[in-house]
Amino acid sequence: MSAQAARSVGAAQAVSILRAPTPQAWVEAAVSRLPELLLDHANCESKAASSALALMFAYAEDRPLALALARLAREELRHFEQVVRAMSALGVGFARQRPGRYAQQLRRALRSSDPGRKLDLLLAAALIEARSAERFQLLAPRMPAPLARLYQDLGTSEARHFELYSGFARGVAPAEWQARLGELAAREAELVTTPDRTLRFHSGPLHCGHHS
Ligand SMILES: [Fe+2]
Ligand SMILES: [Fe+2]
Repeated sequence: MSAQAARSVGAAQAVSILRAPTPQAWVEAAVSRLPELLLDHANCESKAASSALALMFAYAEDRPLALALARLAREELRHFEQVVRAMSALGVGFARQRPGRYAQQLRRALRSSDPGRKLDLLLAAALIEARSAERFQLLAPRMPAPLARLYQDLGTSEARHFELYSGFARGVAPAEWQARLGELAAREAELVTTPDRTLRFHSGPLHCGHHS
């Protein structure tokens, strides 16, 4: 299998666990509001690094997980640098944004103590990575030159991160992980398909009445 074919198999596996595809209306809004999308995207990359570190601290006794997360966090910080550089190249300046509903609402569906919390955190991270991989794939062909290639590469990385997180989830709860993934995937799908107030990398499509 060629390297490119291997990459698209990885991305297809990540996308296949999602319960609903991204609505086309979200793709169109994202393409037409690139500065807004990029600002949130840069933020998502640094949040991904920060969440990985938080998980590392929370389960420091799990050394294989800690090592995998240390590497993953470095990769996410590198993504952050790449997005910020692409923004500079496109003349998109920094602006502060209010966070969207996705991460906060998804977190509410997770169990807050163990047993259960570790599995839920791993599965939520796996779902976020899978959704990111799906959206990078959808956006890559619609992006201007410096971003098209970057988004294609990021789609591959996030699909690999999906596999990493879901692999650890399987190890933590071999009997339970699949059913729980299904429950959280249903919530995740709802969050990216129902009308949303703000455009964000993981938002739903915008409300019809949205004019700002
Ligand atoms: Fe990333
Ligand atoms: Fe990632």
